[in-house]
Amino acid sequence: MDFTLTTPLYYVNDQPHLGSTYTTLACDALARFHRLEGHNVLFITGVDEHGQKIQRTAKANSLNPQEHCDLISNFYLDLWTRYEITLDRYIRTSSKSHVELVHKFYSRVKESGDIRIGRQKGWYCVGCEEYKDIPASSDKPKCLIHQKELEWRDEENLFFCLSNYQSQIEKLVGSENFIFPKSRQKEIINFVNQGLKDFSISRVNVEWGINVPDHPGHTFYVWFDALLGYLSGTLDKNKDIDFLALNKNGWPPSVHVIGKDILRFHAIYWPAMLMSAGLEIPKKVFGHGFLTREGQKMGKSLGNVLDPKIFLDSYGSDAIRWFLLRDIEFGQDGDYQHQRFIDTVNNDLSNTIGNLLNRTLTMSRNWFNGKVPILDPTLRNSELEKQSLSAIKDYKSDFSQLAYKNASQTLIDLATKANIYLNDNQPWNKIKDPINKNEVANIIYNVLETCRIIGILIKPLTPNLSRRIMSQLGLNKDFEVWQPILKWGLLEEGQNLSLPDPVMNKLELKS
Ligand code: MSP
Repeated sequence: MDFTLTTPLYYVNDQPHLGSTYTTLACDALARFHRLEGHNVLFITGVDEHGQKIQRTAKANSLNPQEHCDLISNFYLDLWTRYEITLDRYIRTSSKSHVELVHKFYSRVKESGDIRIGRQKGWYCVGCEEYKDIPASSDKPKCLIHQKELEWRDEENLFFCLSNYQSQIEKLVGSENFIFPKSRQKEIINFVNQGLKDFSISRVNVEWGINVPDHPGHTFYVWFDALLGYLSGTLDKNKDIDFLALNKNGWPPSVHVIGKDILRFHAIYWPAMLMSAGLEIPKKVFGHGFLTREGQKMGKSLGNVLDPKIFLDSYGSDAIRWFLLRDIEFGQDGDYQHQRFIDTVNNDLSNTIGNLLNRTLTMSRNWFNGKVPILDPTLRNSELEKQSLSAIKDYKSDFSQLAYKNASQTLIDLATKANIYLNDNQPWNKIKDPINKNEVANIIYNVLETCRIIGILIKPLTPNLSRRIMSQLGLNKDFEVWQPILKWGLLEEGQNLSLPDPVMNKLELKS
């Protein structure tokens, strides 16, 4: 495996929302990009099903936890199918094989001498499934994220000796290539520099969890179990759990893509757990920002949750994928604004790219019989060629660093340059004099070829739009890798073009 990537494993306390859809779309684009680059990709996603939060939600819905998890897990799978997410593995932490893996992992960590028994006292947020760093003497403290009162806990827990890994983790989080974006690295370094404390990995009185084999009455802390879901996603589910087989199955991940709120778990706790078990650590952790809606946090109580299923039915996946990845710098927080969504998609996809293709096809129809014009090599103009080749380079480099916004901008810039090129060259005037026919042929060829390059490059971002662009150019054969076709000048002269048809209909504002 050349490239393994993961989304977080989403809690099944509620239906999927725009936040989880955002991460999954970003990962899907990255997975598609690497496949097109010719890499062997393993794209893991799934759900995190244990813990008190889920136990309580199931109870509130009068379901047993497993029934509840089955229901919500199906919502996720259904949504990812609708969004055409090209996942390779879908992990459920309530599955039998995952339970077996957790037990095996635990015994490795125990053998390393990194498990001890202790007492955990503190303020706990069930929403975050996390102890908060708040003095015991605080009076009715609240979780800042969930705005709910924290619960006091004082219980016997098993601890993972994170403190044994202080120097290794310091080195890791300080390295240049582990935490992305760079702006989030400092906060993690500061946390580590305060001194790592052992963290509790078991709970008493939480029935809905994986049992700790040698401590009856204890279940594993949901985060200890959930992080191991990434290993479950890598190991071949049809075979016995074999940690020695990890490498040939795609371990370690090239990148864990997560939200900024769970960076600490992924950049500190998780690598230490893996070091303890003698397994390789992920190469990179990317913590993206949070989405708000029209300037406000999204939440049920505010009544402003954007249902990803309804959103998809209203506007289609190309528009949504394009906007979320093009408008918000991946890594930074972003605000979803409906009017801006409509305007951006219409300007970029319908006007800048769509019209470029449409008007060039119309000119080809009128002057060259609906075929790709024959080039006159003596008049070869390399302006768009140069711009296309440099766009390919920039686009690939940005994409591989998850800089989707820059990558999308490169495509729009290229289409804009082609539009300017047409306007500057005025083929509609030149064609009036037959002496210019060859020059016009070259102009049209250059723009069509630029459209082909855009149609190929846009595929990981908007796969369906890519297909429509290629089909307009008469290229109906799907492509899986772009190495053989991502070169200038491969559009065949004399090839039939399709009847001009808008590749992206304009979106209309719906409430
Ligand atoms: N179950 C844990 C992850 C375990 S990974 C081994 C979890 N699940 S979650 O469902 O609560 O969150 C999943 C991801 O969604 C997190 O990365 C979180 O940051 C992200 N988002 C939740 N709300 C979000 C927004 N409003 N915007 C963007 N992403 C957000 O945490």
